[in-house]
Amino acid sequence: MHVPELIAYLNGRFAPLAELSVPVLDRGFLFGDGVYEMIPVYDRRPFRLDEHLARLAASLAAVRIDNPHDEATWDTLVRTLIARQPFADQSIYLQVTRGAAYPRNHAIPADSTPTVLLFADPLNPPAAALVEQGVAAVSMQDPRWQRCDIKTTSLLGNVLARAASVDAGAVETVMFRDGLLTEGSASNIFTVKDGLLLTPAPSTRMLTGITYDVVLELARHHGVPLQIRPVSEAEVRAADELWLTSSSKEILAIVSLDGRPVGNGVPGPIYRRMYGHYQQFKAGEMRPGEDTP
Ligand code: PDD
Repeated sequence: MHVPELIAYLNGRFAPLAELSVPVLDRGFLFGDGVYEMIPVYDRRPFRLDEHLARLAASLAAVRIDNPHDEATWDTLVRTLIARQPFADQSIYLQVTRGAAYPRNHAIPADSTPTVLLFADPLNPPAAALVEQGVAAVSMQDPRWQRCDIKTTSLLGNVLARAASVDAGAVETVMFRDGLLTEGSASNIFTVKDGLLLTPAPSTRMLTGITYDVVLELARHHGVPLQIRPVSEAEVRAADELWLTSSSKEILAIVSLDGRPVGNGVPGPIYRRMYGHYQQFKAGEMRPGEDTP
């Protein structure tokens, strides 16, 4: 494994990523006992940092890990890490586990100290061809637990869901539970039917994406007809348009599902509109000192 020479942060110190390690008894390793965030950074400016830190705090509270830092400290850590990377567009990962404890026991230890890791990857927004032509997806029954609203490092269900689309040469796996749309393996899903944008409401069946929230804000701001309600599998399969949203993929049109075309098999008009709004919003947000909708 080759680890690039990038500066990361672990438990109080910045150091080259390749030099960092955590104890084998860390509960993140033994139990997947931890949570994380991925924050996109454009031109060294973190996108919606406060919202990401709020979601991190909510994930930590949900799994009963005391937040190791206040918001100001997180903010400083993130901005320091950003400044120390050689590239301007970044994916910042914040990982917090419950830390190491002995002996191994499912019970939550009284005295473990959380492990805090921050590292950066280069952020590569989707290639223009993907935006222009859209992407393929496959579907499956959602194999995950009942608390998909927590952004936990216990990602085996998501990993196996993603494997299904990798096997099919597709970009994402759309998941259903009890006949209803949940989300993608690492994204939220929107549909369009007869000009109406439709997406499930936040619930324990999905992670409420920061990008999902931005898209809803933009839909309201620009008057795109919108309904937030349960979306059936049949509605997904009959949709005119299908989109996925995430911090790394932004908004992409899904133009085929399980090998069958979605709508006309090309990115639809509402997608194109929303993609434009999103790029405009990003550019506005990233201009220092300017208020945005
Ligand atoms: N994942 N749902 C799941 C299961 C996800 O993993 C993600 C994002 C989203 C979209 O959330 P957001 O818009 O805040 O990125 C929804 C990130 C990109 C990741 O795991 O790296």
